[in-house]
Amino acid sequence: MNQNPAPLERARDYEREQSTRISAHERPLFHLTPPVGWMNDPNGFCWYKGQYHLFYQYHPYSTSWGPMHWGHAVSKDLLRWIYEPCALAPDTEADAGGCFSGSAVPLPDGRLMLVYTGVQIAGTFRRETQAQCVAIGDGVDFEKSRLNPVLHQAHLPEGYSAFDFRDPKAWLGEDGTYYLVVGNRHAQRMGTVLLFSSADGLNWQFEGEIDSSREEYGHMWECPDFFPLDGKQVLIVSPQQMHAREEFHAGYGTVALLGAWDEAHCQFERETVQPVDHGLNFYAPQTVLSPDGRRIMIGWMDNWETCKGAPRRHAWYAQMSVPRELRIEKGRLMQRPVREIESLWQDTVSYSLITVQEETELPGVRGRLMDMTVILHAEACVCRRFTLRVAKDAQHFVQIRCDLARGELVFDRSHGGSRRDIVHTRHVKAQERDGQLSLRLLMDKESIELFINEGERVVTSLIPTPLDADGITFAADAPLRLSVEAHHLGA
Ligand code: FRU
Repeated sequence: MNQNPAPLERARDYEREQSTRISAHERPLFHLTPPVGWMNDPNGFCWYKGQYHLFYQYHPYSTSWGPMHWGHAVSKDLLRWIYEPCALAPDTEADAGGCFSGSAVPLPDGRLMLVYTGVQIAGTFRRETQAQCVAIGDGVDFEKSRLNPVLHQAHLPEGYSAFDFRDPKAWLGEDGTYYLVVGNRHAQRMGTVLLFSSADGLNWQFEGEIDSSREEYGHMWECPDFFPLDGKQVLIVSPQQMHAREEFHAGYGTVALLGAWDEAHCQFERETVQPVDHGLNFYAPQTVLSPDGRRIMIGWMDNWETCKGAPRRHAWYAQMSVPRELRIEKGRLMQRPVREIESLWQDTVSYSLITVQEETELPGVRGRLMDMTVILHAEACVCRRFTLRVAKDAQHFVQIRCDLARGELVFDRSHGGSRRDIVHTRHVKAQERDGQLSLRLLMDKESIELFINEGERVVTSLIPTPLDADGITFAADAPLRLSVEAHHLGA
């Protein structure tokens, strides 16, 4: 196979030159953005040689999606990222149409293996096909296998698609076997996740189908991840074209399927299904196991539906979510921002059991860089409605309204400065637990990540609000007791 290094060198030169023109002020404080150009899915999230590596779908040359490269950044604490040179460019026959999403596996010999989807521009049927490729390297430079694509259409049983066959998440099993799960679309069962195994990472064999949409959860399952957590097995997928049902919104979503895994028989017994994020901008998450045993998830803080016409204010576009620690409590997947965030806390302001009714500002609680927890002490309270406004000035605000009687929260950014006629609100269950409801908001300039009740539900959204709109107010329809702890954030 003829490998032409020019596209990778070109991307590396370009990003090195262009990224120096963007000041740190134009970026969020702790959310990863691309050095320049466009970013989508997190890829190859791993711990390798003493630091976290995060690769991502990347098009350096414009702020829109284009021929997919893999960008690369490293971090010791998941919040302060350092750019590494672009890792992959579409420069072989096997990936001429793009290096799509995938994962990374540290190898026993000390090298790092990237497993990704190569898009072939005109396959057997003169149509784009997708197949899985391998590149191995030292954590900066990667050499693509001459055997690419190593896992392709010929490995698929009848009924599965060679056109929707992407996003391998690979790992090395305790038995020394390599495994990967990959998204596919079955003619009848629609979105599916398939499991493959390999003795060497190059020769793969089909093991079985882990689960499928069964026509309920979308039409193609992208970006699968599959891991054990707190006694359950978790399958995370990002379905395309979901119908709205129960708590699932229509369109591109993220879904966690919890169940039991019988590895010997390749049987996943699905028990419960829940949305991973209820916000407007979250998709294609991927997880890593940290050296201290935490399962940490990061997602693309955007969505295919909303990104298209989104304003391009910077020479970069899109950002990753905050990395989140996952756990299971009472059969639910729960999330909290990684504890490393505490290293960014500055100037903490606390109010304990204050009573609020009229729209109130609290001295010291203002800003767009904040980790703030608000606890509503709703027991024995006649108050049924609580309204929190953030990113507020005379024209703008983003509103979080809790209807305590209905156990519902409405996130609403319609007054957040958007000029676009797109969805700006989400309705999410938010019920008191033992008389309390807790809201933790992470604000990093143009984004809000809201963790309800210790992360039982999460609402992630970008906000286009001018940065000098930094007011925060609290109001209720009757006297309500609140506790507020606001940590300003700084590097
Ligand atoms: C998900 C996705 C993946 C694909 C990548 C292409 O957001 O569509 O399925 O690999 O983006 O950039």
